[in-house]
Amino acid sequence: MKEKILKALKENPDKFLSGEMLSKELGITRAAIWKHINSLKAEGYEIDSVSKKGYKLIDVPDLLTKDEILPRLNTKYIGKTYVYHSKIDSTNKKAKELATDGFDEGTIVISEEQSLGRGRLGRVWYSPRGKGIWVSIILKPNIPTMMAPRITLIGAAAVHSTLEEFGIKSEIKWPNDIILNNKKVCGILTEMSGEMDKLNYIVMGIGINVNTEENELENELSKIATSLKIEYGKEVCRKQLLCSLLKHFEDFYDDFKEYGTLENVINICKKNSILIGKEVKIIYYGKEVAAKVIDIEDDGELIVKYDDGTVGKVLSGEVSVRGLYGYV
Ligand code: BTN
Repeated sequence: MKEKILKALKENPDKFLSGEMLSKELGITRAAIWKHINSLKAEGYEIDSVSKKGYKLIDVPDLLTKDEILPRLNTKYIGKTYVYHSKIDSTNKKAKELATDGFDEGTIVISEEQSLGRGRLGRVWYSPRGKGIWVSIILKPNIPTMMAPRITLIGAAAVHSTLEEFGIKSEIKWPNDIILNNKKVCGILTEMSGEMDKLNYIVMGIGINVNTEENELENELSKIATSLKIEYGKEVCRKQLLCSLLKHFEDFYDDFKEYGTLENVINICKKNSILIGKEVKIIYYGKEVAAKVIDIEDDGELIVKYDDGTVGKVLSGEVSVRGLYGYV
């Protein structure tokens, strides 16, 4: 009902809509209308209420609520089940619970703020209120469990393509990070549940620092992380960014499911790779090995040449660029 009232207010931006008219149209009492208006106000909608005139929408909050996103979202299934939180510990944690409870492929969990946002390797992901996109997508593809890590590259290509649509040229640090001017603007955490022969689900968590201010990043973090606003000097609309991200993601993911190929995704990851040609440190279970990155294979693995001249493949894991970053 609240959605219907909001829709009516949005469709009549310059008009007062009387409580009486709304109550007749929607078949509920004026008191019920008043209650819903108050609840919209509590969510941050600025609504003018004038006795004998009614209600007029003045301003819409910068929130990623279902009411704000679903009317703009042009995907087929990604995000159609939309689980919104104002605050949560971690959207990945919640999405894993929902996936276990049988929520469908394409369900997303999103929050304005995370109190315990999870990064890779047990790190914390700083997720301040209303400043970024903190979203997790539930996926249930029919693929062998060992192929699951490749899905991360779909997320990376989708974020890259989204930023490109906004005129922002980013680089991809295989397989999980998106880089702007040598600093990390987005991280991806792919988690899964399954046995050798059966994948139950994948949860892909994407964190994009959108409108975070420089002075909000703690000293250490500001050396390695950035936001779209810090790099481009202006606010970016999170609603548009999210809708574009989910659409790009769905297109790449559908290709993968339908044709079993990651061709487009790998091309994007290769063309915009910050690693190819660089000296890196590969970190396996705490042990560091020096190598040079040669290429990304068609199946998404990283091809590297070790210092002793042998060539090898890296499936996933930690790769840090020697001398460029300090964040591993
Ligand atoms: C990394 O680079 O370490 C990965 C960061 C992933 C952060 C996102 S924010 C949304 C989702 N929920 C989480 O708790 N983490 C991921």
